[in-house]
Amino acid sequence: MPLVAPHDFVRAITRTATPVSIVTAQGGGVRLGQTVSAFNRVSDEPAILGVCINRRSPIHAVIRACGAFNVSVLAREHRGVADCFAGRGGPDRAPFTFLDREWQTGVNGLPVFADGLAAFECTVHSITEIGSHLLYLGEVGRVVHRDAEPLLHQRGSYRTLAQQDTEGHHA
Ligand SMILES: Cc1cc2nc3c(=O)[nH]c(=O)nc-3n(C[C@H](O)[C@H](O)[C@H](O)COP(=O)(O)O)c2cc1C
Repeated sequence: MPLVAPHDFVRAITRTATPVSIVTAQGGGVRLGQTVSAFNRVSDEPAILGVCINRRSPIHAVIRACGAFNVSVLAREHRGVADCFAGRGGPDRAPFTFLDREWQTGVNGLPVFADGLAAFECTVHSITEIGSHLLYLGEVGRVVHRDAEPLLHQRGSYRTLAQQDTEGHHA
């Protein structure tokens, strides 16, 4: 079967709602962050997650150099942070700027967003080049999380949950 046209694939896949996260890396005096929606639970035992980052990103060299990255999952009030690390400035911030009040240093020495929904400190398990993106699997060494509403992304727009589902709980 021939592959679907990239345009059709993207239109279909962006109908799914995803959390919005910031991948961060630091090394050699460089600190970088990038907004990602391609973030996944891969394995529970051992704890491994995956993120996909486009080939053009400058973050690849930094992740390779330090062998680690962090993923900070944003809460609903953090659209400005998501825009910032997607290269879009706002009235109160320049693109790709770490504001001191918003960021802490993880146990692994890499940036962690201070007030997010969850954060995962990872060491690189593997890096796989796949078409337009690089797939990073990360072994999760430390997590932090809190009760908060997630920031979601769907069909090119930020979304938030309309209501809390109290009927079922699945790990
Ligand atoms: C909500 C949202 C989700 C994104 N998800 C991803 C992603 O999963 N992987 C990726 O490589 N880029 C993703 N991007 C785009 C990058 O953040 C953006 O290309 C990068 O920060 C570089 O910015 P530039 O293209 O303006 O240089 C996303 C952007 C936004 C706003």
